[in-house]
Amino acid sequence: MIAFKSATVRLPATALALLLAACTGAAQAAPYVMFRDTGCGCCHKWAEHVRTGLKAEVVMREDIPMAQVKADRDVPADLMSCHTMEVEGYVIEGHVPAADIQRLLDERPKGVKGLAVAGMPLGSPGMEMGGHTQPYQVIAFGDFGQEVFASYD
Ligand code: CU
Ligand code: CU
Repeated sequence: MIAFKSATVRLPATALALLLAACTGAAQAAPYVMFRDTGCGCCHKWAEHVRTGLKAEVVMREDIPMAQVKADRDVPADLMSCHTMEVEGYVIEGHVPAADIQRLLDERPKGVKGLAVAGMPLGSPGMEMGGHTQPYQVIAFGDFGQEVFASYD
């Protein structure tokens, strides 16, 4: 009888703890998963930019070959960069500014599967090299094709 009683008390407490954990996780840290190759330094710098800019926790994965990561997510060949991130079902390819990721998550434009900054333009987040900059565009891609989401000069 005592054992039964304590069990009935413990069950709701556990359920509540799980619920709280789930809530906290959702509020503070959406699951930002970044796939990268080992030994690439700019990925870490960009991840830091995302952590700071979006107050997000970034999980790193280096266990899948990047060619496969990109192929599995339909990243267009002409938009490829080093790292690939997944957040809330979207694909973020390359050195996309945190503000544009935020805008994507806020606006959720129809048909967009992800954002990409092709290559490794100097001056993009994580690619700061002594003040050198190159103009670059953030491209939204999806079944419709590609369109410019943001431009940086
Ligand atoms: Cu890079
Ligand atoms: Cu990198």
